Amino acid sequence: GGLITIDPGFKNTGSCQSEITFLNGEEGILRYRGYSIEELADNASFLEVAYLLIFGELPSQNKLNKFYQDIKEESHVDEEMKKILDGFPKSAHPMGVVSSLTNALIAFNPTSVNVDSEEDMYKAIIKILAKFPVLCAWALRKRTGQPLDYGDSNLGYVENVLKMMFKKPSKDYEVDPVVASALNKLLILHADHEQNCSTSTVRVVGSSHAGLFASISAGVSALWGPLHGGANQAVIEMLEAIKEDGGDTKKFMAKAKDKNDPFRLMGFGHRVYKNFDPRAKIIKKSADEVLGKLGVEDPVLDIAKGLEKEALEDSYFVDRKLYPNVDFYSGIIYRALGVPTDMFTVMFALGRLPGWIAQWREMRLRKEPIGRPRQIYTGENHRAYKDISNR
Ligand code: CMC
Repeated sequence: GGLITIDPGFKNTGSCQSEITFLNGEEGILRYRGYSIEELADNASFLEVAYLLIFGELPSQNKLNKFYQDIKEESHVDEEMKKILDGFPKSAHPMGVVSSLTNALIAFNPTSVNVDSEEDMYKAIIKILAKFPVLCAWALRKRTGQPLDYGDSNLGYVENVLKMMFKKPSKDYEVDPVVASALNKLLILHADHEQNCSTSTVRVVGSSHAGLFASISAGVSALWGPLHGGANQAVIEMLEAIKEDGGDTKKFMAKAKDKNDPFRLMGFGHRVYKNFDPRAKIIKKSADEVLGKLGVEDPVLDIAKGLEKEALEDSYFVDRKLYPNVDFYSGIIYRALGVPTDMFTVMFALGRLPGWIAQWREMRLRKEPIGRPRQIYTGENHRAYKDISNR
């Protein structure tokens, strides 16, 4: 072994070369396969972006149709999986449910682990793109006490996600185009973000050749935490707490700045973005538009804007280059679309799925070695074993 340097949190360590996502944190630039996030969010469909991330090019209409047809043919989830879902208490957090069900899928699709050819890889990718939204919708329906539903294969991918989640048993479900377009945009904005915590997890788990579904399940677990995707739920809970407390944002700002208080301003700060998060800019604008179009008034939107304004003028946040991130305003939109708070991070996972898949595929195609970092040992020197009676 040569000299080992330690970089806690991998702040300055690159783990791979990648052709998928370009991110410039100083200038707030984010591009998928060379296309800027602003243009994709305004023009593309989420399924097109998924194809782009995974295979490297925007699909022709024919290729997109074939891609979606393949996905639709795989959208069935084994009936036995419902028993596993039934075993969870209704109070179970949907992220835990989705992660567990994703792992359980392997038992019913055992061949999905064999990905020695690109064709096998394609099959596994189609399966997870088809079944993951079903599992997410099941998690939501379980939580809200609704019978399970497969949606409608005549609908687009995003529209079908909405139907699978929100269709009531007795009524037909008309997809509101405002809602579908808002969700489409949010999913695109979440679709990839280079080597973030959950994506690195997917690559590391996949590097042992554990298979795509096990890697995605691990990615969901990594995303769950409040420092990562779980921040979107934590933001709304924070804004609600401020509202309940009488709306005094200054008090919470003081808590966030107090180094003896573990409280952080959720939805603020980013490991890489040091001037602004381009996704947050788009989402803030979209929040105003969507709430306007849906006629929703949400008092926490004003609290969020007030907090942002105060933070951007406060030397603590300015000195540390802390800006609103993707999670700061997204929850306000999810809420306006009717998504329960503890499902917000599941929506993030749905959006991130193509990114996880693309990164996993790239890692396998490049035949990357198993992820196995080193350490510097700081424990005891050699000691003689002591019998239990002498301890
Ligand atoms: N509120 C108050 N202080 C903060 C915050 C915050 N949200 N974020 C960072 N700081 C302070 C931190 O205490 C440290 O101060 P000092 O230099 O005095 O010790 C300094 O800013 C640098 O922070 P760090 O924790 O060393 O930075 P990091 O790169 O390790 O962490 C982060 C990045 C996103 C985990 C962190 O900013 C954070 O915890 N933010 C709140 C949670 C959040 O919104 N997460 C979502 C991230 S974006 C997308 C996603 O992954 O979902």
